[in-house]
Amino acid sequence: MANTKKGGSDSADRSKLKVWLDGRLMNYYDAKVPILTHSLQYGSGMFEGIRAYETEKGTAIFRLKDHVKRFFRTAKIYQIDLGYSESAIEKAIIECVVQSRLSSCYIRPFAFYNSDRVGLATHGTDVSVYVAAVPFGAYYGKGRDSGIRCKTTTWRRINSEILPVEAKGSGNYLNSLMAHKEAIRSGFDEAIMLSAQGRIAEGPAENIFLYMNDYLMTPDYSADILIGITRDSIIEIARSIGIEVLEVEMHKEELYTADEVFFTGTAAEITPIVNVDGVDVGDGKPGKITKRLAREYTDVVLGKNSRFAKWLTYI
Ligand SMILES: Cc1ncc(COP(=O)(O)O)c(C=O)c1O
Repeated sequence: MANTKKGGSDSADRSKLKVWLDGRLMNYYDAKVPILTHSLQYGSGMFEGIRAYETEKGTAIFRLKDHVKRFFRTAKIYQIDLGYSESAIEKAIIECVVQSRLSSCYIRPFAFYNSDRVGLATHGTDVSVYVAAVPFGAYYGKGRDSGIRCKTTTWRRINSEILPVEAKGSGNYLNSLMAHKEAIRSGFDEAIMLSAQGRIAEGPAENIFLYMNDYLMTPDYSADILIGITRDSIIEIARSIGIEVLEVEMHKEELYTADEVFFTGTAAEITPIVNVDGVDVGDGKPGKITKRLAREYTDVVLGKNSRFAKWLTYI
């Protein structure tokens, strides 16, 4: 197994953190919910995952507006009235990071049914919204640089006849979790899920890219993927440096024949995949294009590429 430590460096003491809950900022440990909270029982919460980076010009949140837009899109799909405007949630996110005194972090906006009645029905149930932020390192630890080993799992990615795949609903992640557990149990670092039709879909919380025959390729929407914001960033960055990108259907065996494979995600950033199902990708080391794109991405999130300054919100 590669030398990875999954979960980032999120072991931080929470006692100095502030949480924004329903319009009020409070100490992390003062934000409480009853154990029978609907969204704990039924997985009916919904969320976003955002990163803020420490740049030379101070802390910058990466693609804040796009993440907040996706948060509202998820709410629309799951028919939850958040009770706030997009700009109010953007302000709450900024306030939470500033008041928690974090120069770089992972930010988690979350909406949930706060009723503690037993029963699935949600009509007449209040919705709560919180924003929390925690210090967070590389999601795959050293694997972010040295690469990770993945397993294509027997658990297929949910499809939109079962659950809305474009929404970040908590319940969707039980599918991701089953795939992840299978991969770990089998001695791998992470899962790659195929779609119900057997096409390459994505990781449990990551989109996937393959580089082969001088093209960068990533599954299109028909593979029931979550439309990742990092995926979109990498497509734009790659095109800006002259790499041709295709959004296409791909078969599982292309994971074995590709020159390079990597994951993208807010948490995972750009993580090389060096082995799939025991088969080395290329020569079993992170490839040149992957490393180049990872460097470009780092420059972009750290505000060192003026072309993409539009994606940073300095706070
Ligand atoms: C299922 C799934 N796919 C892909 C991604 C990557 O999306 P993003 O780049 O917006 O973080 C995530 C993370 O949010 C995810 O949960």
